[in-house]
Amino acid sequence: MIYAPQSEPCPLPFSPFKSCTVPRPIGWLSTISRDGVANLAPYSQWQNLTFDPPMVMFAANQTSDGRRKDTVVNAEETGWFVWNMATYDLREAVNISAMELPSDEDEFLRAGVTKAACVDAPGPRVAESPAHFECRYLSTHRLRGNSNHGWVDVVYGEVMRIHVADEVITSEGKLDIPRIKPIARMGYYDYTTVIETFEMRIPEAHAAMAAGLEGKA
Ligand SMILES: Cc1cc2nc3c(=O)[nH]c(=O)nc-3n(C[C@H](O)[C@H](O)[C@H](O)COP(=O)(O)O)c2cc1C
Repeated sequence: MIYAPQSEPCPLPFSPFKSCTVPRPIGWLSTISRDGVANLAPYSQWQNLTFDPPMVMFAANQTSDGRRKDTVVNAEETGWFVWNMATYDLREAVNISAMELPSDEDEFLRAGVTKAACVDAPGPRVAESPAHFECRYLSTHRLRGNSNHGWVDVVYGEVMRIHVADEVITSEGKLDIPRIKPIARMGYYDYTTVIETFEMRIPEAHAAMAAGLEGKA
C-alpha cells in the first residue's frame, strides 16, 4: 500500500498516519486563564526538544469551528504552562480532560483531580500525577492546515522547574517507570502503557555522549 496523503484518498478505512508515530507520550497540560479558571487537556503531539536547557513543544490543532485551543491562549496570555505525567491510574481523568468544554469551566473539577500549587507558574498542577514540568512559554509557530481543524499552533516552552514525587524515585536515583506506568497514544482509540524497559548502550560512545544519553545533569 502506498498513497500521497495530500492528493490521493487513503486506501485504508482508517488513516495509518497516527498509527505509524507510536507510542506518543502525552503532554497532559494544565494552565490558568487570565480570569483565573484552571484548564487541563492532553496533547499527544508533545515532545522534549532538547535538554540543555530543557525545552518542550506541543502542537494544538484548532477546533473544527476554527477556534484556538484554550491551552494555547492561556499559555500565551499568562506566559506559562505545566506538564503533568499521564499514568495508567489517571487514564480516565486524562480522557475526561480532553472534552471541549467552555473556557470558563474548571477542568480540574470536571476531571476529578486535585490542584497542587506550582512554584513559578501561576496555574495549578495535578496533585495525583507523579511528575511535573513548570514551563515558561517561549513562542508559537502557526502552521497552515487544509481545514479549520488542520491549522495548528506549535507552542514552545522552556522547563523552569521539575517536580518528581519521592516515592517514584528508585534507590539508584532514577524514575521508576514500570511503577509509574506512563500512558502513551497509539492510533485510532488505542493507548499503551510502559510497564517494561530494557537497556542498550552505544558501543565506544565517548563520555560526553554517554552522559547526554544517560541524562546526567
Ligand atoms: C490522548 C489525547 C491526546 C490528544 N492530543 C491532542 C493534540 O496533540 N493536539 C490537539 O490539538 N488536540 C489533542 N487532543 C484533543 C484535545 O485534548 C482537546 O481538543 C481538548 O479539549 C483541548 O482542550 P483545551 O482547549 O482546554 O486546550 C487529544 C486528546 C486526547 C484524548
